[in-house]
Amino acid sequence: MQCQAQTWRRVGTRVVLVPTMGALHAGHCALIHRARKLAGNGVVVVSIYVNPAQFNDARDLRSYPRSLAKDKKLCRAEGVDVVFTPKTLYAKNASVFVEETDVSCSMEGGSRPGHFRGVATVVVKLFNLVLPNLGIFGEKDWQQVLLIKRTARDLNLSASIVIVPTVRESDGLAVSSRNVCLKDDERRQATVLWKAIVLAKNAVRSGSVRGLKQKITLFIEKQPNARVDYVEFFKEQTLKLMKPKRGVRMALAVYIGKTRLIDNARI
Ligand code: PAF
Repeated sequence: MQCQAQTWRRVGTRVVLVPTMGALHAGHCALIHRARKLAGNGVVVVSIYVNPAQFNDARDLRSYPRSLAKDKKLCRAEGVDVVFTPKTLYAKNASVFVEETDVSCSMEGGSRPGHFRGVATVVVKLFNLVLPNLGIFGEKDWQQVLLIKRTARDLNLSASIVIVPTVRESDGLAVSSRNVCLKDDERRQATVLWKAIVLAKNAVRSGSVRGLKQKITLFIEKQPNARVDYVEFFKEQTLKLMKPKRGVRMALAVYIGKTRLIDNARI
């Protein structure tokens, strides 16, 4: 991959990378469409690698959906030039990892220790292998995007980061690889994440942060299989916790049965 990337760089070919863990869906298609547009006559590379370093739970890694043959077909249909599917990216005794110590500490970082160290490390590896001009990431993982932007800035990576808006089902549920793990009734209950964001949008001016969080938690947990992990309000570019008001971003993580879903939006 790196030899090919060096050749592209030598002849001035624009390279746009869409890093993924596979199980591709409409959200990934939106990333690929944007990549295709931005690449122009250049090349679009989609990487598919279920990165063990970002899973803090072995069961979660084992059960992560995998559909490589289907994914490759979809990439071909969407005009992807190269699908990069490394078998492993880590030496057995790998001992160097990328650790960010600010924007990665709260929310997902708090609930999934080591997760963002794995993400930052694999993204740096992928960027070093593919040498992209642009890396495309989804707004759905807002904290991940900030982490990657910070990593790119602080480690002087040459790629620019592009953010693509979240794709939603008609009932508001953010499209995610994990949605296939939801049973029928759970799928219906999962719409509560988006409904909670709408509730927050309509209630920004009423009461304290604690009061609003409590209201949202009670609202979500009315669903029989829903359990809130966190609800937070923060300044978009720094993740500094804020009182909910217009322009502030809200993020939440909710278990629906055994499936953990995340979502976020500006309120
Ligand atoms: O968002 C994802 O799918 C992953 O975290 C990423 C960025 C591909 C790194 O493994």
